[in-house]
Amino acid sequence: MALIKKEVVDQIIQHADIVEVVGDFVDLKKKGQNMWACCPFHHEKSPSFSVAPKKGIYKCFGCGKAGNSVQFIMDIEGTGYVEALRYLAKKYNIEIEEDQSPAAVQAQNERDSLYILSDFAKQYFVNALHKNDEGQSIGAPYFKQRGLSVATIQKFELGYSLDSWDDFTKAALEKGFSLKYLEETGLTIVKKEEGKQYDRFRGRVMFPIQNVSGRTIGFGARTLKSNDKKSPKYVNSPESPIYHKSDVLYGMFQAKQAIRQEDECFLVEGYLDVLSLHQGGIENVVASSGTSLTENQIKLIGRYTKNITVLYDGDPAGIKASLRGIDLILEGGLNVNVVLFPDGDDPDSYIRKVGDTKFKEYLKAHSQDFISFKSELFAQEAKDNPVKKAEAIREMVVSIAKIPDAIKRSVFLQRCSIQFGIDEQVLISEYNKIHLSEQKAARQQPSAPSPASYAPGSFEEMAAEAEAAAAAEAAMYEEEDQQEADQSNLLRIREREVIRLILNYADKEVEEGLTASQFMLSELEDIEFKTPIYKRLFDMCRLKLEQGFLPTASEFMQHEEKEIRNEVIDLVSEKYELSDGWASHEIFVPREVDLVTYGSEREVLRLKWRNVQLMIKDQMDTLPKITDPAELDKTLRTIKTLKDFEKQIADMLGIVVSR
Ligand code: UTP
Ligand code: MN
Repeated sequence: MALIKKEVVDQIIQHADIVEVVGDFVDLKKKGQNMWACCPFHHEKSPSFSVAPKKGIYKCFGCGKAGNSVQFIMDIEGTGYVEALRYLAKKYNIEIEEDQSPAAVQAQNERDSLYILSDFAKQYFVNALHKNDEGQSIGAPYFKQRGLSVATIQKFELGYSLDSWDDFTKAALEKGFSLKYLEETGLTIVKKEEGKQYDRFRGRVMFPIQNVSGRTIGFGARTLKSNDKKSPKYVNSPESPIYHKSDVLYGMFQAKQAIRQEDECFLVEGYLDVLSLHQGGIENVVASSGTSLTENQIKLIGRYTKNITVLYDGDPAGIKASLRGIDLILEGGLNVNVVLFPDGDDPDSYIRKVGDTKFKEYLKAHSQDFISFKSELFAQEAKDNPVKKAEAIREMVVSIAKIPDAIKRSVFLQRCSIQFGIDEQVLISEYNKIHLSEQKAARQQPSAPSPASYAPGSFEEMAAEAEAAAAAEAAMYEEEDQQEADQSNLLRIREREVIRLILNYADKEVEEGLTASQFMLSELEDIEFKTPIYKRLFDMCRLKLEQGFLPTASEFMQHEEKEIRNEVIDLVSEKYELSDGWASHEIFVPREVDLVTYGSEREVLRLKWRNVQLMIKDQMDTLPKITDPAELDKTLRTIKTLKDFEKQIADMLGIVVSR
């Protein structure tokens, strides 16, 4: 992957004003020092999404999403880091000079060429539809007959491919595109032996397929003949370096905003289903067109909503697809509802038949969660047949077992018990069986056979035994653990506070020529931080100072690791800001920044105090093990010194240490 130079990254981040960047997506209102809006990442009625212009960050106090401009674009557009930087560079007219390793340049150039070629092809097909006689007399009437409006055709950039062998290929070559790329995108089919090349798409209406950022990456093309047995109904672009079918959903670019707003995504099977629903005012709809639903497609939806409603045909194939989709969606940790259409209808034909309003009513009335859907499906056969009924219940529990979230799982087990009129305990033990056998399958290793595999059927017992033993042991240690947990938690809090002050007041002078960060870092030179994240941040701050920079929060907000970025954002976000009113009424409220000197001194002491206490504890713990009198004497003296030191610090902090 091509890298963007550090200087350019910095430049982009400097220019990318958080209010402008976020403002492109949500409606921000000023309140106090910050701007507020309803969060674009989760559904809410009152705003808990805030933007702090001075800090250059956003944070939602509802769902916890937070970051700087780059992170915002990554979150809202569902892109990677580099793509987000590109987006911002484009917005602010910053030229990106790529890292010039030849391999990286070539790969990027190649991808770019494929994008540019696909875009050219899309435009070519659009022109053919609107400006060419054949397009006008054959392509356009077809769309009209399918009920698509001019606006829909434009919005989805639909086109037409002329019924000729190589009209498009010739035009592309003439434009200077190389045959290599034409073949790689699949737009041209090359028959080397015969020395021939011809267009893949001929005499078809064209559906350009776009990635989430709106770039054309492939095509679907439908024949105009209603029942031509010789040629397939749809011809699609093959896989290419820019088109991975299993990662793409048709219509996502046009739907993502609506999906986020509605907090729901309708999933359909075909291009025309997407187009018709969109036209009918249902814009939160995408299609898995051409492939059966994949894990990555579900992940893609998951960036925008956790709720998927599957809209499939009511024929056996549609039902089968729904069942498969349900399990995959549950496994992905998302919620799934199902709407089936009367046999013979798909969403497109049905909305055309009944109209927008009735269609929406139908969706509301027939949307079922997967428990109801499955139980209804099996109800018929299971009615008077206990064997079938047991099978149906097992089916259901298998689906429930796929849900990663334990609370959700138990809610559904409960629902299922009500639906089937079966004791919940029965379902739970059925669930446990499935769960254990799955774990067993996961644990089984191809290498040395474990004893368990010699004793078939005893696995449950063994697992139960092991669990009981572990529980007993855990109880024994719990008390000790609790004490230690408290200790290390106290330390963690102190370490966090120190880092928070350093980052927030990196440049604030506590005395002439000495900033808070410099003061604290030098005071704590000998202290070893114990909490990994704060240790790392502390070391990073120290390094910055050594390099002659102040360790400001913004330095770390663009750190490549999400964990670091998020922690830093948490450390600099304050939910409650003083309102401007206070200042204008000249009411004096002491602000933290005024107390920095005092605060950083105290925090340094507090952290030292906690550290000394831990050191004392460590020394005490070794006492019983010491046998050598000389060593015992030495250790006791160390403890004494440490205790004196502890007392000193406590005095300075005004703490009374009880003995
Ligand atoms: P359908 O056969 O249900 O087509 O296939 P459709 O979308 O309803 O189209 P119309 O209404 O008959 O015009 C559903 C989807 O499966 C893919 C296409 O993405 C299609 O939209 N498909 C279908 C193919 O890729 N190739 C085919 O030959 C058929
Ligand atoms: Mn159809």
